[in-house]
Amino acid sequence: MQLTGKSAIVTGASRGIGRAIAIDLASRGASVVVNYNSSEAAALEVVTTITSAGGQAIAVKGDVAKADAANALIKAAIDAYGKLDILVNNAGTTRDMLLMSMKEDDWDTVIDTDLKSVYNCSKAAVRPMIRQRGGRIINISSVVGLAGQAGQSNYAAAKAGVIGFTKSLAREVGSRSITVNAVAPGFIPTALTDVLTAEQKDATIKMTPLARFGKPEEVAYAVSFLASDEAAFITGVVLTVDGGLVMQ
Ligand SMILES: NC(=O)c1ccc[n+]([C@@H]2O[C@H](COP(=O)([O-])OP(=O)(O)OC[C@H]3O[C@@H](n4cnc5c(N)ncnc54)[C@H](OP(=O)(O)O)[C@@H]3O)[C@@H](O)[C@H]2O)c1
Repeated sequence: MQLTGKSAIVTGASRGIGRAIAIDLASRGASVVVNYNSSEAAALEVVTTITSAGGQAIAVKGDVAKADAANALIKAAIDAYGKLDILVNNAGTTRDMLLMSMKEDDWDTVIDTDLKSVYNCSKAAVRPMIRQRGGRIINISSVVGLAGQAGQSNYAAAKAGVIGFTKSLAREVGSRSITVNAVAPGFIPTALTDVLTAEQKDATIKMTPLARFGKPEEVAYAVSFLASDEAAFITGVVLTVDGGLVMQ
C-alpha cells in the first residue's frame, strides 16, 4: 500500500498507537502532521524518526477537544502540504472508575477528549475534503465501545459514540468519495494501559484467541490500509484489531 503524495493528520501522535500510525503512514509516502497536546519532546522525536528515514513530517500542538485548536490543526496541515487527504482521529484518554465514584469531570474529560475531538476535527476536515472530492477519515474506537467494560462507562460511551458518528458521517459524505471508518483495537500495551493491574492483563490474554497483546504497529497497518486507494470501496466499517477478543 503506497500513500505517496497524500497528506495526513494523526491526532495524539506523540506516543503509543498514534506514534506508530504516523510512522507507518509516512513510511508509505504520506506527508504527516504529528499532533500532540502536551508532550512536545515526544512529538518532535516522532518527527525526527520520520524525517531521518526520508519521510516528511511536522509537529503541531493542539488540544483537539477544543474546536479552535482542531480548526487550527486542519489549517496547519493544509498550509504545510496544500491539502488534506487523511485524518486519523486517534487522541484519547481514560479516567477509569466505577460509575458510583465517577465525578462529572471524569466523565466530561473522557467524552471531550475521545468523542468531541472526533466531531471537532472531522467537522473541520470535511469541507476541504469535499472541495478536493475525496478523503479518508479513520477514527480510533475500541473494543470497549463494542462490548463495554466495568469501570469504563465514560470511555465505553465515548468509543461507542465514535462508532455511531463514523457510520453516520460515512452516509453523509460517501457521495463525495470520502470514506469514514473506525478501527477498534483490543489490548495494546501503551501508557494508556499502564494503569491496569497484572490480573486484569492476564485475564485479557486468557480471553484473546490469539493469546497475546497486540502491537501499536498492528493497529497502524489497519489504518494505513483504510487510508489507501485500495480501500476506496470500504466505508462505515468497524475493523477490530484485537486478536479475536470481540468477534462482532
Ligand atoms: N492502548 C490500547 O490498548 C487501546 C485499545 C483500544 C483503543 N485505544 C485507543 O487508541 C488511541 C491511542 O491510545 P494509546 O494507547 O496510544 O494512548 P497513549 O499512549 O496514552 O497516547 C495518547 C495520545 O493522545 C494524545 N492526547 C491526549 N489528549 C489529547 C488532546 N486533548 N489533544 C491532542 N492530543 C491528545 C497524547 O498526547 P499528549 O501527551 O501530548 O497529550 C498522546 O499522544 C486512543 O484513542 C485510545 O482510546 C487504545
